[in-house]
Amino acid sequence: MEDMSYWKEVWERKGRDTTKDLTILDGYEATTANVKEIAKNIIKELDIKESDSILEVACGAGGLAQYIKCKSYVGVDYSKSLVKKHIELLNNSVIHGEANNLIFKDKTFDKVFCFGAFHYFPNQEYAKKAIDEMKRVAKEAIFIGDLPVLSHREEHLLYDKNDFTDWKIIDGYYNPSRFNVVYKL
Ligand SMILES: C[S@@+](CC[C@H](N)C(=O)[O-])C[C@H]1O[C@@H](n2cnc3c(N)ncnc32)[C@H](O)[C@@H]1O
Repeated sequence: MEDMSYWKEVWERKGRDTTKDLTILDGYEATTANVKEIAKNIIKELDIKESDSILEVACGAGGLAQYIKCKSYVGVDYSKSLVKKHIELLNNSVIHGEANNLIFKDKTFDKVFCFGAFHYFPNQEYAKKAIDEMKRVAKEAIFIGDLPVLSHREEHLLYDKNDFTDWKIIDGYYNPSRFNVVYKL
């Protein structure tokens, strides 16, 4: 779906929900995803240590962020309502912004990750720019998760494992139609 506004409105509405349940706010309520387990896997794949600085792109209300223990955590999300909820509920440093245009200087963070968002991007060009941005602001490694090869929703942007030849490819954590990738810089 090339039109950005469809999913943007969905996520803007989501953040206006009065619940404090981060799993619901981040849209996992109708899935079998276990956010604690997903966070554990990302921590393992990126070898996140308490001394690391971390950026989460498309961080939502903080479903994963709540489990990340590190020296400094920054989140970015394009939903103003979810940014507000994330700050209210977890008191993290969270910035409103788009995945394809990160405001940070080159190599600002040790590790950068993005989970559960690339299928909401409008097209492959946007996704490529977002990957370039993640690589640009990271020093050591980046992780992108939950990329669908097929989906029940025609509005989801799909991905091909063959486009990630220089990356480590990992099976989906809760959905066999999805995969995760890690890139070491
Ligand atoms: C399924 S939630 C995942 C949130 C969090 N990463 C997690 O796993 O708990 C998807 C998030 O991606 C954000 N998002 C989608 N497209 C985005 C974009 N182009 N730029 C920034 N954020 C985006 C949405 O606002 C939403 O918060």
